[in-house]
Amino acid sequence: MNRFAAKLRADGQTVGEIDAALAPLRKFGPKLEHEMWNRNLTAEKPSFNTEPNAFLVAMTKGRKAGSALDVGMGQGRNAIYLAKQGWDVTGFDPADRALARAQELAAHQGVKIKTVLSTSETFDFGKNKWDLILISYAGGRDVKKQVIDSLKPGGLVILEGFHHDATKGSSIGGSVVFQTNELLTLFTGFRVLQYEDAQAKADFGPGETRVVRLLAQKP
Ligand SMILES: C[S@@+](CC[C@H](N)C(=O)[O-])C[C@H]1O[C@@H](n2cnc3c(N)ncnc32)[C@H](O)[C@@H]1O
Repeated sequence: MNRFAAKLRADGQTVGEIDAALAPLRKFGPKLEHEMWNRNLTAEKPSFNTEPNAFLVAMTKGRKAGSALDVGMGQGRNAIYLAKQGWDVTGFDPADRALARAQELAAHQGVKIKTVLSTSETFDFGKNKWDLILISYAGGRDVKKQVIDSLKPGGLVILEGFHHDATKGSSIGGSVVFQTNELLTLFTGFRVLQYEDAQAKADFGPGETRVVRLLAQKP
């Protein structure tokens, strides 16, 4: 929407005209986006990495399992991985069919996960509740305060998203795009245990690109 508004401004449209052009997007945009994710995440031939996120696997290896929250969990690849490692996992997402797929896959693999139909804006994160919060290609800036408040002291946040360079020539939603070193200070006061800014195959989107990854701990 921001990019579209900027284009209309550059085309010389007035504030009123831009507002009118954006109105239907404001009204139907979120529903269309959830439907897009439903289709994408339950497609017969998936266009994303259906294996658990490699950074999550590496960062949780050998750690004591506890309570975990998977933000924008999609079809559950990461939640199911954590459940298999003994974590007590809750995930939420606004894409209902993706959540249904997550439950199917979990049952098939013999683990239980809790799924909640919700957006980051409406989900109740609670306070001092989680040992781990995962944000895998599902925002970060928008849930900063919720993550800080809802992790237990000593709890971990794991985040993976795109570096801003990845947006060159490809359309990626701004909420999963970060500036150089932005993640280092995103969760105010947290201790950064691992930060990576790497050229790698992203789990979503086209091929090799610049990916950023964070493991940080609440004091
Ligand atoms: C790129 S997918 C990532 C899915 C999952 N985290 C993974 O790594 O497999 C983005 C996910 O964010 C979800 N999403 C979209 N809008 C959201 C919102 N407002 N709050 C929470 N999740 C949202 C989508 O439905 C989709 O499942």
